[in-house]
Amino acid sequence: MRLTLPAMSQPRPAAPHTLPPEPALPSHIGKYRIKAKIGEGATSEVFLAHDPFSGADVAIKRVRPGVLPNSRESHFQRRFFAAEAALVGRLHHPGVVQILDAVADVDAPYLVMEYVSGGTLRRFCRADGLLPLSQIIEIGFKCAMALGYCYRQGLIHRDVKPANLLVELDGEQVTQVKVTDFGSVFNQTAEHTQIYRVGSLAYMSPEQLDGDVLDARADIYSLAGVLYHLVAGRPPFDAQQQQAIMHQIYHGQAPSLATLREGVPEALQALIERCLAKDREQRPASWEEFAQALSALSADKALARGPLQEVLDSERFTLLRSLDFFAGFGDVELWEVVRRAKWQRHTYGQALFRKGDEGNTFHIVTQGQVEVYREGKLVAQISAGSSVGEMAYLAPNPELRVHTVDILVSQQATTLAFTPDTLAQLSLPTRHLFDKAFIGVLVRRLHSAHEALAHPRRVL
Ligand SMILES: Nc1ncnc2c1ncn2[C@@H]1O[C@H](COP(=O)(O)OP(=O)(O)O)[C@@H](O)[C@H]1O
Ligand SMILES: [Mg+2]
Repeated sequence: MRLTLPAMSQPRPAAPHTLPPEPALPSHIGKYRIKAKIGEGATSEVFLAHDPFSGADVAIKRVRPGVLPNSRESHFQRRFFAAEAALVGRLHHPGVVQILDAVADVDAPYLVMEYVSGGTLRRFCRADGLLPLSQIIEIGFKCAMALGYCYRQGLIHRDVKPANLLVELDGEQVTQVKVTDFGSVFNQTAEHTQIYRVGSLAYMSPEQLDGDVLDARADIYSLAGVLYHLVAGRPPFDAQQQQAIMHQIYHGQAPSLATLREGVPEALQALIERCLAKDREQRPASWEEFAQALSALSADKALARGPLQEVLDSERFTLLRSLDFFAGFGDVELWEVVRRAKWQRHTYGQALFRKGDEGNTFHIVTQGQVEVYREGKLVAQISAGSSVGEMAYLAPNPELRVHTVDILVSQQATTLAFTPDTLAQLSLPTRHLFDKAFIGVLVRRLHSAHEALAHPRRVL
């Protein structure tokens, strides 16, 4: 069997040279022959393994060996393990990973699960891997049905996030999603004590942060956060510091999805926003209600344009790839630009700016040509791959934001339009690349201005 697994495992920082090399794979765990390592979390490692009796592939999640016995970590590990082990044979749903067995080995207890071959939803959260909107809605629907089933069994997952949603693929098409990692689950029917305040911050509801008593609506919030990420290529709240993310979860408003991706129907945007409401009373009251709202959306005609939008987006990607301005951009950043920018068409003779206009929009010309007129005199022609109006964006004070020239379309043009707001919503690496590209443009302009001063006749 060919493995295409590295992409789905959790990213790990490159090991510095001083660390010992990665330990070799164990040849067996219990009766299972180990074939590959396919994932790891904070406290566990997950392997692809072969069951010699059934002949099937299984996934084995083993508590990472080597944690000191009786330490705080080992206490938590045992609790997480116990939470999952309690579910052996209990969950039977096409949208939930089956837990087949739990072995309470003293050193390193492990779980045996159904193996899901397509990796996790994480790879579809990157700007260069986003799925068509219609597929995202279908994924949302399937997850809502699966989590609804769990809830009816008395379970609140508490850690719904892309890395815990496994997929099966047919080519690039996600055919099935399966909820996994019940290590943080809260079992409403269990009598023993359970750990509170678990889960991953980025998708966590305010009430879960508070350590409040939870119901289905906490997981509904988290699933909506995942759908938001799948649509936009970034989570609803994003910051370097945990404190800042927590502050946003309590008080912030996630940027509107329509500003982050073209073609997001209003109803989808409204539904996700409602599920991300700080006050759970505002969210759908049950999984059934959420699932129904998602299925109503999939009938939306706007989404039928999905495949066409994909073609358009990949044409746009190729176009940007050919432009000087974006030469330093990696694929991930370029996809982010394709999805986030406002694409505008301009007809011949139209003015992008007039002298005296105050502006903060700037454009990158992707096709056609525009001309710059100072006092009625043509001073420059700008064609595909360069920017116009960037001074208004870069200007340190308002006076400099006023345009000093007229910019007219001389050949039917397409531009990418940005404002400081839309630029601020791009990821940090992409913003840096923009700044670098601007410096390039400005240096070239400065150079040609010097040339013009030295050799006045050469102007145009
Ligand atoms: N049943 C499975 N089939 C395939 N891959 C899996 C399976 N279970 C987990 N994985 C992979 O291992 C990773 C970690 O597993 P998870 O149960 O989430 O552990 P943790 O509790 O440490 O987060 C997952 O993100 C996924 O990449
Ligand atoms: Mg996990």
